[in-house]
Amino acid sequence: MSLIEEISSRLQRSYQEACSLLNKANTTSDVEVVRIRFLGKKSDFSEILSGLKDLSPDDRKSVGQTANELRQHLDLAVSTKASEIGDRELEKKLANDPLDISLPGKLFSRGELHPIYKVQKEITRILQLMGLAPVYGPEVEYEEFCFDRLNFKAGHPARDMQATFFVKGGSAKGPLVLRTHTSPVQARVLMSLAKQGCPLPVRVQVPGRVYRVDDDATHSPMFHQIEGLVVDKRSGMSDLRSTLDFFFREFFGPETKVRFRPSYFPFTEPSAEVDVSCVFCKGKGCRICKTSGWLEVAGAGLVHPEVFKACGWNPDEVQGWAFGMGIDRMTMLKYEIPDLRLLFENRLSFLRGQQ
Ligand code: PHE
Repeated sequence: MSLIEEISSRLQRSYQEACSLLNKANTTSDVEVVRIRFLGKKSDFSEILSGLKDLSPDDRKSVGQTANELRQHLDLAVSTKASEIGDRELEKKLANDPLDISLPGKLFSRGELHPIYKVQKEITRILQLMGLAPVYGPEVEYEEFCFDRLNFKAGHPARDMQATFFVKGGSAKGPLVLRTHTSPVQARVLMSLAKQGCPLPVRVQVPGRVYRVDDDATHSPMFHQIEGLVVDKRSGMSDLRSTLDFFFREFFGPETKVRFRPSYFPFTEPSAEVDVSCVFCKGKGCRICKTSGWLEVAGAGLVHPEVFKACGWNPDEVQGWAFGMGIDRMTMLKYEIPDLRLLFENRLSFLRGQQ
């Protein structure tokens, strides 16, 4: 018998023996024994296949082919048998020990968006309806953008209106602060568009975290604002008013009234404080609105000519307006949350809406 014939008959024998053992197998572990013995690393098949390299190319081809075919057949036979026996074993187990599929499943708790973030998303959605695209700026900001370019002059008392966290050392490009409002992004947007030739219209919204030295039931040292900025050839007070009317009705409900009160910000002129009719008592007067019937929700105004100038725009050629509001305060009003600090303690029962 030639070497080739000898190898082939060894493979055939091995295959036949495997098949007959497989026929007698009754349990999945019987099948596993067959698989390991005839298909595993130490099986005849593996040994022969790994010895192929010592054969002549022709012999290698014919032995290789036979071995591979037999191995594939055996592989299929083993897996068919394993699943047959597996099914039978499962049926037997279920017959003895039925599964109650009506039992409730195991509950798992799922994460949820934080109320502040939910409200931010809702505000962003409404502003986007009106064409304001979200843009973002850094929380560690140059004093230049936070104050100087927004017409807060050095030594100007308005700089003290915003209790600022200063960042030790600053940077080579100037003193650094934690931004006290989202308005520095107005300066950043205007300056970068000035480089592109002041294309109109500008319509952006700026959500983000801001920081002030303040901590009580209605103030947190870190809080959230969202800012709107629109600049066009002519866009003034009536556009600002109608935008905020639409916004607050969409956010708090169609019966919401909006009013402007004169106010002061260095970067807007004229400036206004924006109130909405109290969402709790519908304007009749209650504890939350301190019987006035109104809640202060935003600051707003027309972009100050000095801001345009400081950011590379010609105030005689364009007009614009801006507003800024506290997302945390809007969240407290929307969900009737009595203490701001609840929003930051992250007690799970509170976050799940159980108060
Ligand atoms: N940045 C102001 C603040 O934080 C709010 C504001 C924004 C006012 C835009 C007018 C225009 O108090």
